[in-house]
Amino acid sequence: MPIVVAGSINVDLIQSVEALPRPGETILALASARLPGGKGANQAVAAARAGAAVRMIGAVGDDESGAWMVAQLAAADVTTKDIATIEGALTGAAYIAVDRSGENQIIVASGANTSLSPAMVGAVADTEIRVAQLEVPVATVATFFAAPGDGQTRRVLNAAPALPEAISLFALTDILIVNQHELAVFLDLDRPPSTPQEALAARALICRENQLIVVTLGASGAIAVRADSAVHVPAFPVVPLDAIGAGDCFVGALCAMLDQAGEAGVTDEGLLTFASAAAALCTQKPGAIPAMPLRSEIEAFIATHVTGSRPI
Ligand code: RIB
Repeated sequence: MPIVVAGSINVDLIQSVEALPRPGETILALASARLPGGKGANQAVAAARAGAAVRMIGAVGDDESGAWMVAQLAAADVTTKDIATIEGALTGAAYIAVDRSGENQIIVASGANTSLSPAMVGAVADTEIRVAQLEVPVATVATFFAAPGDGQTRRVLNAAPALPEAISLFALTDILIVNQHELAVFLDLDRPPSTPQEALAARALICRENQLIVVTLGASGAIAVRADSAVHVPAFPVVPLDAIGAGDCFVGALCAMLDQAGEAGVTDEGLLTFASAAAALCTQKPGAIPAMPLRSEIEAFIATHVTGSRPI
């Protein structure tokens, strides 16, 4: 059964800079690149490279960028027949600055992504794992998740960017994945949690039986929180070159692991370890889609790097 990703497709216009610009400042880029991206497309490719059969539902404009993005997805073995081309619309574009430490700032011009309507995501009854993010309309994600499934259906929401109105989707979600900044928005915290213990506050978002909440904490790793248990997996020790798409890589790899485990299941620790290793590898190459690792690379990385985990 394929993983179905409903989400955004963007062209990433990346400027490498010495330091991210301050308000009012003009700076010169050290290098520029045009690479395929978008949270939905990134997650679809990450899952495909991690070994899953993936179908993408999305929208591009009828411009050169749209045709290029569909070709990029197809080249990564993602099924693209449900990507609509919207007449007169521009393909989504993300304006990205990356500094020497790999930190980035992103502004997204949504373009055709806003045209992904509820009617375009209705036909998903035969799918086991549905994946969505928040660069497409919340009403579309709601329809995608509310469509009937079978006993194996899993709805995975990466609630990024953190739109407060997306809280209405949480009751439709089996696995919610957020980073510490997004968690702070959804919990209305004064500052993002920085330790696994602080991130346990995520438990307050649990609103249905067997729900899993995953919080990624950058250099502090990731936690998996359930109503009655929680586990922390530390980050793999890598020096990031470029963190663009690393969160999406985490989500896509986690879904691929979930899919491949099938009915035998996988522990929360196993899910986080695989996803964290994939994300660590993603930070070692420039851009998002070109940096998504193969399953064999993830497995080899895990075999040679120790991370460990512990209940919290
Ligand atoms: O998460 C990274 C992605 O966010 C980029 O590829 C960019 O397109 C934006 O959607």
